[in-house]
Amino acid sequence: MDTACSALVIFGVTGDLVRKKVFAALYELQLLDRLNMPVIGVGRSDWNDDTLRRTAETAIRSHAADDVVDDAMHAVLDGLTYVRGNYSSTDLYETLQRSVAAHELVLYYLAVPPTVFGAIITGLGGTAGSGRARLLIEKPFGSDLATARSLRDLVEQHFDAEQLFAVDHYLQKESLQNILVLRFGNRMLEPTWNREHIDSISVTMAEAFGIEGRAGFFDSNGTLRDVVQNHMFQTVAALAMEAPASASANDMNDARAQLLGYVASLTLTDVVFGQYDGYLDVDGVSPGSTTDTFVNARLSIDNDRWQDVSWTITAGKALEENLSEVVVTFKPASAPMFISNECEPEPNQLRIRMAPEESIVLTMQARSSAVPLGTARTSLAAADNYRPTERLEAYARIFDDARRGDQTQFASCEVLEQCWRILDGVVHRTNSPKTYARGSEGPRLAPMSSANESVQRSR
Ligand code: BG6
Repeated sequence: MDTACSALVIFGVTGDLVRKKVFAALYELQLLDRLNMPVIGVGRSDWNDDTLRRTAETAIRSHAADDVVDDAMHAVLDGLTYVRGNYSSTDLYETLQRSVAAHELVLYYLAVPPTVFGAIITGLGGTAGSGRARLLIEKPFGSDLATARSLRDLVEQHFDAEQLFAVDHYLQKESLQNILVLRFGNRMLEPTWNREHIDSISVTMAEAFGIEGRAGFFDSNGTLRDVVQNHMFQTVAALAMEAPASASANDMNDARAQLLGYVASLTLTDVVFGQYDGYLDVDGVSPGSTTDTFVNARLSIDNDRWQDVSWTITAGKALEENLSEVVVTFKPASAPMFISNECEPEPNQLRIRMAPEESIVLTMQARSSAVPLGTARTSLAAADNYRPTERLEAYARIFDDARRGDQTQFASCEVLEQCWRILDGVVHRTNSPKTYARGSEGPRLAPMSSANESVQRSR
């Protein structure tokens, strides 16, 4: 059997995610001649092939701006057809089966709210020839540990592990993959990448925009489920895991799962939840909703490499800026006596910025001219063009990898369950989030008192 899928079925094709990311990704792949397959969009709305094609065209044009390549765009549009259906009705799966009958292997993409996953997996498992399918499932995979396990059980009733592709588009980002290369490809970093030399690591994913237009999805998920359980934890895994035995999907996921297994389960004292002022007025948000639009959490990783290092993660909407970055702060140098103590050397910091632009900056200490043999900060910087290769957007890679059956940059069920296990003590919180002003930096955990710090250290 050919190991590449030759048709794509998208459930939830009328949704916001498909409009924002997926049509552009299909177009990008077509430009590289790596799509070339029919795409069947499935939705509950009263659309037809034309509505779908027009929506896709608008999305592609807005993505490609003036550079749109008409042939590639029309190849995508001509391959699109729409099927309207109810996800719980067997008729839908029979119709789909007839439409893809000529294809040996079909990629089914579930771009729907998590509440509908069960119906679609059961429908596909029952009628659509599950042996000829790959399942590409959007996040979040479940809404807590128990539901993630039930979802996994359901998938495993109908599909093998090799058929499941759980989406986390951060895993497909160049900038996240680059963290591993940076750590393990630089002799000067790996020996210092531990608690002997590192004081703290912070991971930030701040977004200046709110959730307008996405309340249907967001209000029942919140920031913790939307980005912490997946994107933030995958970033932590890339920063903290041991070197995988190989670049295979199994070895990569084993290394991720092993590291996440050392992350202590969070309690409510480790997390501050926030909600931006005005969130309750957004169309579609339930009255009095206590959904978090902001999370600031302290993690502790209880293994030899990371014990006592302070890890902080911060993610939120409607903040002062769009900024996605990692800051690694090293311990201060033990400067020898001859360096002037009029200016103590500052700790080195490695900043890996993932958005809005990509950069790597290492702050160093060099001689200050102000004070004889004093020190001052200087920086070594690699700007966002430090890699010359052709870039492919994360969603284009998702489809390309899933189509070809490469699971390396998809989280295994063990990884997903570790992520939920870390959150299990806080995901069902009943306390209200702290309100923060739009455009602010969001609420923060109080710094650890020295008493807490010593408890932390003795763990
Ligand atoms: C998505 C979340 O997975 O990631 C969004 O659902 C978030 O809430 C987005 O805005 C961020 O992705 P990126 O690639 O723009 O950093």
